[in-house]
Amino acid sequence: MEKLNQEISLKMNQICKAYPGVKALDHVDFELRKGEVHALLGENGAGKSTLCKIIAGAQPMDSGEYYLFGEKITSLSPLEAKNKGISMVYQEFNLVPYLKIYENLFLGKELMHGPNRDKKAMISKTKEVFQKFGIDIDPELRVCDLTNAYKQLVEIAKAILENAKVLCMDEPTAPLSTREVNILFDMIHSLKKEGVSVIYISHRLEELFEISDRITVMRDGQYIKTLNTNETNRDELVKLMVGRELSDEYPKRNVEIGGEILRIEHLSTEATDIEDVSFTLRKGEILGFAGLVGAGRTEVMRALFGIDKKRSGDIYIKGSKVEIRNPADAIRHGISLVPEDRKGQGVSLTLSVRENISLVKLKELEKYFSIERKKEKELVKDYIEALSIKTPGMEQLVKNLSGGNQQKVAIAKWLVMDSDIIILDEPTRGIDVGAKYEIYMLMNELVKRGKALIMISSEMPELIGMSDRIMVMHQGRLTGKLEADEITGNKEIQKTVLEMASNDKAKEV
Ligand SMILES: Nc1ncnc2c1ncn2[C@@H]1O[C@H](COP(=O)(O)OP(=O)(O)OP(=O)(O)O)[C@@H](O)[C@H]1O
Ligand SMILES: [Mg+2]
Repeated sequence: MEKLNQEISLKMNQICKAYPGVKALDHVDFELRKGEVHALLGENGAGKSTLCKIIAGAQPMDSGEYYLFGEKITSLSPLEAKNKGISMVYQEFNLVPYLKIYENLFLGKELMHGPNRDKKAMISKTKEVFQKFGIDIDPELRVCDLTNAYKQLVEIAKAILENAKVLCMDEPTAPLSTREVNILFDMIHSLKKEGVSVIYISHRLEELFEISDRITVMRDGQYIKTLNTNETNRDELVKLMVGRELSDEYPKRNVEIGGEILRIEHLSTEATDIEDVSFTLRKGEILGFAGLVGAGRTEVMRALFGIDKKRSGDIYIKGSKVEIRNPADAIRHGISLVPEDRKGQGVSLTLSVRENISLVKLKELEKYFSIERKKEKELVKDYIEALSIKTPGMEQLVKNLSGGNQQKVAIAKWLVMDSDIIILDEPTRGIDVGAKYEIYMLMNELVKRGKALIMISSEMPELIGMSDRIMVMHQGRLTGKLEADEITGNKEIQKTVLEMASNDKAKEV
């Protein structure tokens, strides 16, 4: 007889949820055991976040059964869910930026000493929670001064303080570096030991093998299969989620690299500590930027794009020196930047897919004081197809798209500009494996057409698989540089890059 050792925390049968024009969940089954890490896997728009929102009471379901710790749930508000022990760590942060860490943790439930807030107790309790996971952090730091990684850890600490029994983590590692991912995984392991169940969403398959016990695959709002992690493999998962086999992970390209198109000499910035960064970029080339989170890669690009002020340094485009004081200058000189923080800077959430994509082309589409709608629609349609953006139509508001599809709109929006130099900051963050491949194909197509790309990525395999050359940064400086012949066929490459990325002394490059 099979031993019934698995207590069920949560069970969902035949859950349906529709939005106008979209069946987000179509008879989905899901079961979560006590103390397990259960991953949800599926392409962008498959319904993963929607399922979590229903579990946490942030969205009502249309039909289906939901049992929580054996109790049948008919309606559930976010507060009720929280009181029942469900905590959600959202894709977008829910912290108050100008409050300190401990103030965020105890917001609305301050510890009191008589009539006064017991600051001391809250600070020591905060320290305690972090120490449990071996993290030393000053509870009096303001959240807005933290890196994304630490914001994420604060979110989780908050859930722990709330005595969560079920923790939903929606792409928690997206903003984290390798080391920070390890801290997070340690946290998850200790939570498991205490019997906390974790629902874990991530597009990084390697992570699922490291952290999850079971994996439920979804596709187009439907339940596909639940597997024990140690009985499956990458190929099977990809096939289940995409519905077909994916052969190569990184598409090959055969592009002749041309002459220098961009040269940066001795760039240093005012606000952030970028020191003496120099590099060149050639026509037809993909130049990768590696480094840990906070190494300064994004800051270099912001300075190049005229967002951040330079302290010193020169920029040459096709051999002649240019002044870039603001993004408009950069765009005029043929540079585009697809930012990392696409929610903040990349897309207009309250505009439609069409409006977002055609925005920068409106001038060209203008004819006799009106927009050539037909041309506009063709243009938008082309990009929706090229990036396989999942949307019921081009008039859908971007805020109603799934996280990954919002990213794709942001990328499309900048590609439309047709610049010669395109900077992509974490272009595949939050994007599913199938769509990643499409983005790589698109990158290859762009360099084939003579453009030059800079790609910042925290995913080492992707950097190695796609870059012609790789620059490595650490603490605002370049600490390493890898040429094409050092990248291809080098089995130790990942280790080499990591070493360069964690080197405190800047090497001669
Ligand atoms: N508020 C909303 N209004 C309309 N449609 C929505 C809304 N929220 C989600 N959808 C749609 O429901 C479907 C499922 O979205 P969901 O966010 O659950 O996907 P996901 O699996 O989390 O994808 P991703 O990996 O991109 O985050 C998508 O087609 C999405 O466009
Ligand atoms: Mg999502």
